[in-house]
Amino acid sequence: MSFIKEIEKDLKDVICRAGYEIDNVTLAISNRPDLGDYQINDAMKLARNYKKNPRDIANDIAEILREDYRFTNINVAGNGFINLSINSNYLIDCMNKMISNVYNNIDLPQKKKIIIDYGGANVAKMLHVGHMRSANIGEALKRLAKFLGNEVIGDAHLGDNGLQTGIVCLELKHRFPNLPCFSDSYNGEDFDLPITEDDLSYIYPEGSIRIKASEELLTEARNIVYLIQQGHVGYNTLWNKVASLSIPAIKKVYEELNVTFELWEGERDSFKYIPAMFDELEKQGLLYTSDGAKVMDVKEDTDEKEIPPIILEKSDGAYLYGTTDLATIYSRVERFKPDEIWYVVDNRQELHLTQVFRAAYKSKIAPSDLKLQFLGFGTINGQDGKPFKTREGGVMSLPNLIDLVNVETYKKLNPNITDEKEKKSIARTIALSAIKYADLIPYRSTDYIFNPDKFSDLEGKTGPYLLYSTIRMKSLLKKANELNINFNVIKKLKNEYDREAMLNIINLPSILTRAYEAKSLNDITEYIYKLTGSYNKFYSENRIITEEDEDLRMSWLALTKLVLDINLMLLDILAIDCPNKM
Ligand code: ARG
Repeated sequence: MSFIKEIEKDLKDVICRAGYEIDNVTLAISNRPDLGDYQINDAMKLARNYKKNPRDIANDIAEILREDYRFTNINVAGNGFINLSINSNYLIDCMNKMISNVYNNIDLPQKKKIIIDYGGANVAKMLHVGHMRSANIGEALKRLAKFLGNEVIGDAHLGDNGLQTGIVCLELKHRFPNLPCFSDSYNGEDFDLPITEDDLSYIYPEGSIRIKASEELLTEARNIVYLIQQGHVGYNTLWNKVASLSIPAIKKVYEELNVTFELWEGERDSFKYIPAMFDELEKQGLLYTSDGAKVMDVKEDTDEKEIPPIILEKSDGAYLYGTTDLATIYSRVERFKPDEIWYVVDNRQELHLTQVFRAAYKSKIAPSDLKLQFLGFGTINGQDGKPFKTREGGVMSLPNLIDLVNVETYKKLNPNITDEKEKKSIARTIALSAIKYADLIPYRSTDYIFNPDKFSDLEGKTGPYLLYSTIRMKSLLKKANELNINFNVIKKLKNEYDREAMLNIINLPSILTRAYEAKSLNDITEYIYKLTGSYNKFYSENRIITEEDEDLRMSWLALTKLVLDINLMLLDILAIDCPNKM
C-alpha cells in the first residue's frame, strides 16, 4: 500500500478517536504550500453532520495528529482546514522504501481480466491521425492496467469488413480482369496478385472516385462485401491477399509507435459467431423487420435523446459494423470470459457503441457483470480548429504526420552529434516522443491542436524536454559510477529543493490510481513534467558530484536515481523511448 493511502487509513481512526465517524478521509495536496504539504478538509463536512463549529472539530483532530511522528507543522486555518507537513525523516524513510521496491508501495486495484479494443486500423487503407490517438491512448492504458496487476489482452480489431473491401476488390477487378479469382469456375487455386504494398496507397482512393460516379458500381461493391460475408471463394481469396499485403504495413506503423497487440483480429473474425448470435436474438424475439432490414430496439425510457434501433442485417442480407461489433462481444465472452472490455474509439462513434452495448446487455450476449466501457477520444485539429488535414485539404496519413515533427526535431538536434545515421535515428525517436507526449497531455476526450514546432521544443511541457532531462540524470549517474561513488540510500535532505522532489515522489501512487480510474493519461503526463521540473530546479541549485558532505552527495545521487527510475517507468507506461543522448 502507498504511504499516503496508509496515512489516510490511519486518519480515519484518528477522527474516530476524536469522537467523530467518517467513511474516508482524503489527504489532499495543499494548494497553499506555504501553510503545509497537505490539507485535510473533512472538518467542514463533520461540522454539518454533528452541528458543531468546524474549527473546534479541526482542533480536536489536530490535537491527536500532533502525536504522530510522521507529521509536522500541524495548523488549523480558515474555516477548519487542517494543514500539515510531512516529517523529513519519515519522508526519507519512504524514499528508501521506494528505492528498494516501487511496486510494493503503490496501490493495486482489484485484479481484473480486461480486453482493450484499440488501434482499429482499416485494411487496405492508410492509417490516419485518428488511428494514432487510439493507438497511443490504448497502448498506454494497456501498459498501465498491466502495471497495476491486471490481466490484459489488446485487440487491434482491424476494419476488414466495410465498403472499402468492396471498393478495393472492384478496383482490382477493373485493373486485372483476368485474375483467376474473378472467373465463375474459380476453385481456390493460388495465383499472384500483381500489386505491392505501395500500390495500396492509390488503389482504394482511385476505387472510391470511380464508384462515386456510378450507382451501379456502388451496388456491385456492396454486393462484393455481401459475397465475402457469405464465404464466396474468389473474393475471399482476393481479399485475403490484399490483407496480407496491408497488415504488415499497418504493423510497421504501429511498431514505430511502440504499439503491440496480443490479438490481431478483425471484424471478419466475428463472422463465425454471427449465426449463433442471430439464433440467440431470434429465440429471444428481439429482432424485427424494418424496411426489409433486421433491426433491434435499444432505446430506454430514460433516454434524453433518441437512440435509434441497431441494424444487424441490411435488406440485401449484408452485415454491418454493428453486427460485427456485437458478434465480436459474443466471441470475446465465449473465448476469454473478460471482466471488462474497453473501447478506445473516436468520440464520434459513441452512438454506435452505445447501440452495440445495449444490444449486448439486452440479449445477455454480455453478462450483466461484464463491464463494457466506451473510452472516447477527441479530435486532433489544425491551427484553424478543424480536423487536421494536409495542406491540400486531404486526410493526413499517420506516416506523413510523423515526418512533419521529425523535420523539426532533426533541426533542433545537438550539433555535436555528427554521425548522420545516428542523427537521423535519434531525431526520429525524439519526434515520436514529442508526438506521443503531446497526444497524451489533454484529457482523453478533449480535442487538441497539432503543432509540430511547439511539440518538438526543448523547453516546456514537451517530450523532448523530458527526454533531455532524463538523459541528463543518466549522465550524472554514469559519472558517479565512473568515480566509484556509492549511492544506494538517501540519508538526508538539505532544503526545499530536494524536499520538493521527494514530496512529488511520494505522490506517485495517487497519480497512478487517478489515471487508472479516469482511463486517461493526462495525470501521468502532468506528473512527469512536475516531478522532472522539481528535480531540475534542485539540480540547478546544487553541484551534486562535487558536494563535499559525502552523505548529502550520496543522498542526492540516490534521489537522482529514484527520479530517473520513475521517469523511465512512466515513459515506458506511455510507450515512449528514451535515447542515450540528444
Ligand atoms: N476501424 C474503425 C475506424 O477506423 C475503428 C474500430 C473501433 N473499434 C470497434 N470495435 N468498433 O473507424
